[in-house]
Amino acid sequence: MPSRPPRSDVYPWYDSVWLTEYTRAKTTIETTRPEVLRAFVDAFRIFHTPPSFRVRLLERIFDDDTLAEIQRVARSLRPTDLELHEAPTFGRFVVHDHPYFTALHHRIVPIVSEVVGEPVEPAYSFLSLYGNLGVCPLHLDSPEAKWTLDLCVGQSSPWPIYFSQVCPWPELAPDISPGSDWEEQIKRSPSLRFTSCTLEPGQAVVFSGSSQWHYRDAIPDGPGANSPSCCSFTSSPRGARSCSGRRTGRAASVCGSSGARGRPRMPKGQLPDEVAHDERSPHREPDHPRPRRRRRGPASA
Ligand SMILES: [Fe+2]
Repeated sequence: MPSRPPRSDVYPWYDSVWLTEYTRAKTTIETTRPEVLRAFVDAFRIFHTPPSFRVRLLERIFDDDTLAEIQRVARSLRPTDLELHEAPTFGRFVVHDHPYFTALHHRIVPIVSEVVGEPVEPAYSFLSLYGNLGVCPLHLDSPEAKWTLDLCVGQSSPWPIYFSQVCPWPELAPDISPGSDWEEQIKRSPSLRFTSCTLEPGQAVVFSGSSQWHYRDAIPDGPGANSPSCCSFTSSPRGARSCSGRRTGRAASVCGSSGARGRPRMPKGQLPDEVAHDERSPHREPDHPRPRRRRRGPASA
């Protein structure tokens, strides 16, 4: 049975807290001050994605030396650098806003701005190290991460990611009662027209994660299983982050569960509890994980 992220009592997918709070606010305004509803909705239009936007594959955004350095930095991470909160759900270990990747993020801002057709500013970045149980469940990102550039850092075999067309933010909760196949319904929706994208190391893809459903199927198991790594650089429209409503004071423990697929193994074959006790972050937000030190307000792949 699907489970909703903590504090998202409307939508079931990862990173749906912002949309839950937005929907709740709209309902409250409709009831109490309907005359300002239009202004409220219009205030967030900057986070809506033009329907004409299409996913863009970028062949080479960094030179060979830079890509080699990215791969070296990823390999050099120590177990205690890794965040564990997405091991149960994504089969991955993540590192948010690593100084090296934060510096790279500023280098790619002009690229993303050109691709998406509006000036952007960095929101946050995270490196994902998938293990043999890697999977990316169907979801939409929070609008703070309106744009994402995903860079393939390394892999032993291709691992497609699937994107829907740009669609309006859903304002009705799907039926996630026991037995519901809401994820399959979305994936099969003719109007969403999912397409796949398969990256090679060094290639990147730009998409609008807050308005394009996206997912990856589970990594096939077997000898020599794939252990892909990628870095996600998310961006907001320039000047809009202050009204994205970032969350505060969130705490949720996800390290206590091993998830339905068991515990993932890291690329080097260790289990999470063998490689990191991660005393820095035993309680992290599961649906939108970023280091607490970076947060200043309410919410946001
Ligand atoms: Fe995402």
